[in-house]
Amino acid sequence: MLVSTSAFAQDERTFALPPPRTAGNASLMEALRSRRSTREFSPKPLPRDVLSTLLWCAFGINRADSGGRTAPSAHNWQEIDVYAALPEGAYRYDAREHALRLAVAGDLRAATGMQDFVARAPLNLVYVADFGRMGDAGAEDRTYFASADAGFIAQNVYLYCATAGLACVVRGLVDRRKLAPALGLRVDQRIVLAQTVGYAG
Ligand SMILES: Cc1cc2nc3c(=O)[nH]c(=O)nc-3n(C[C@H](O)[C@H](O)[C@H](O)COP(=O)(O)O)c2cc1C
Repeated sequence: MLVSTSAFAQDERTFALPPPRTAGNASLMEALRSRRSTREFSPKPLPRDVLSTLLWCAFGINRADSGGRTAPSAHNWQEIDVYAALPEGAYRYDAREHALRLAVAGDLRAATGMQDFVARAPLNLVYVADFGRMGDAGAEDRTYFASADAGFIAQNVYLYCATAGLACVVRGLVDRRKLAPALGLRVDQRIVLAQTVGYAG
């Protein structure tokens, strides 16, 4: 199993990541010219350094002093958790430690969407809002803000994919009633969006 055989693994519940490659010189204009949605994926796995950089771009910490992140969030609530459904299991991205924490063992990729390619692609990200971190915001504001905040993360992923030769598509078409219990979510954790990432195929 990947989590127990990896040179980076610290324990069997942690999928440690190498440092992200944040010094690249890919141009923003090139990324914007290339950004697109793709729905045909190869099963080829993502190298771990690519996974690491992808997660950092998505919602990693870019300011160590303040804990600031690569994507903005309303009130700096940082309420979106990024889950990564890999063949080995579903993991929650721990930005502070830059590691993946096992949420559920086993392959949940097919459960992250309602389109055929989700089971074949090597990675499906799931953006989960923790309403418990959103202060005293009303129900409607929680939904609006969480949706906007997840959108910024998804665009970071789109732009990274555009520069790294990766294919991706953000997805609202998710069976949330099925996926939420499969991920072991509490009732105040809401699935906002998912995003499939891999190599075009
Ligand atoms: C909020 C949102 C939800 C989306 N949901 C899906 C989806 O469930 N499945 C899918 O294949 N594409 C989905 N898309 C991708 C759009 O279909 C796609 O962005 C649009 O067709 C424009 O294509 P482009 O991204 O290549 O410019 C979604 C996009 C957004 C912004």
